[in-house]
Amino acid sequence: MKEKSKRGNFTSSFGFVLAAAGSAIGLGNLWKFPYIAGESGGGVFMVFYLVFILILGVPFIMSETAIGRKTQLSTIGAYRSINPKWTFAGIIGVVCAFFILSYYSVVGGWILKYITVFFTSGHTTAAAPGYFASFTANPVEPVVWHLVFMAFCTVVVLFGVEKGIEKGSKIMLPALFVLIVIVAVRSLTLGGNAMEGVKFLFIPDFSQLDSPAKVANVAVQAMGQVFFSLSIGMGISITYGSYLKKDSNLVKNSFIIGGLDTLVALLAGLAIMPAVFAFGFEPAAGPSLIFETLPAVFDSMPLGNLFAVIFFILVFFAAATSAIALLEVVSSFFIDSLGWKRSVATISTASVMALIGVFASLSFGPLKDATLFGMGFFDFLSYLTDKILMPLGALAMCLFVGYSWKPKSAAEELAIGRGGFRAVGLYSALMRFVAPALVIIIFVAGLINK
Ligand code: PHE
Repeated sequence: MKEKSKRGNFTSSFGFVLAAAGSAIGLGNLWKFPYIAGESGGGVFMVFYLVFILILGVPFIMSETAIGRKTQLSTIGAYRSINPKWTFAGIIGVVCAFFILSYYSVVGGWILKYITVFFTSGHTTAAAPGYFASFTANPVEPVVWHLVFMAFCTVVVLFGVEKGIEKGSKIMLPALFVLIVIVAVRSLTLGGNAMEGVKFLFIPDFSQLDSPAKVANVAVQAMGQVFFSLSIGMGISITYGSYLKKDSNLVKNSFIIGGLDTLVALLAGLAIMPAVFAFGFEPAAGPSLIFETLPAVFDSMPLGNLFAVIFFILVFFAAATSAIALLEVVSSFFIDSLGWKRSVATISTASVMALIGVFASLSFGPLKDATLFGMGFFDFLSYLTDKILMPLGALAMCLFVGYSWKPKSAAEELAIGRGGFRAVGLYSALMRFVAPALVIIIFVAGLINK
């Protein structure tokens, strides 16, 4: 482990919050959240989602940053330095990041394709019915875009232009925020059934939860989405926390990160659901949701093309900052733990992920009928990471804090930089009992349900 040397620091808490928010805010908020909420019943999903953000998401970010700042080491080294028996918790995270990026990059490729479509042939093309399905079913084009996306991330990680990306995110994240508000306002004012979309998203219809299996299903979807969206269970916040100074307030920052991420997800929901209802789309359409509704929204607004191009470029950057964090997690494992050269580690891991991604991409076309545990390959990767590896990584993390490092030590770290931490009892109960029990119950229920 050579992490201890040359350890930089974030110059400000603001820089840290931005970097952490940059990793958190990505396709999870803009693409996945609306479609998962749509598939899982809207309002009822939202209730579970918000509760899990509060009782699991924020405490987990607090814990991960505390581990990082305490040890001043990145994920695997951090676990190992406190208790070598828990090194595996870091390894789960690396494996998980590996599989996420392999399919994340496929979606990143779709975003690139949409930028070029809006740029060259206009919104009407992308808004045409069936456009998305026929594009993704093509055996070559989406694969090429996926490879371009992965190559872009690889180059960035290779050259380590992190400063550029960091500076860039300071402009791009706020810009994305402004644009998504504009799109949401447009979507909300489409008339017709638009308001039905808002009701769908925010008014829970509990009559949907008429069997334990359905409750478990919505809960498992919501928990997976909270972990995915906040990048939890992969030790990303451990690494970021390790760059933090002792005077930063970990508790406050965790709430801000959780809050910003949730805000962007809600805005994405508000940009999409009203349009889904106004144009008569299907809220449970799945992964195609934003690729079909957003072009329709842009098609219906003045200067739609211009907004569309800018919007998808920003989505691309949001996706790229998350993808880069994922690639960095995986390659730094090979660099730090196995002593590989950065170039070798980055190029070889990215190539293997790219190859896996090719099959994920083809599962929308030529490999549509090839299934693994009853799922197409893309869906399988998403299931494996959201429902299995992320919960396992998160479970390992809270058990580690609860029983190995001990909540008292974590609370001592959390107290630094904010003049105390009074909720020790609550925090300890959460990490030792509530969080592990919830994660286990939902995890098992999800497995049985499948
Ligand atoms: N949180 C990111 C998103 O919402 C995805 C991600 C997961 C990034 C895990 C890094 C680690 O898109």
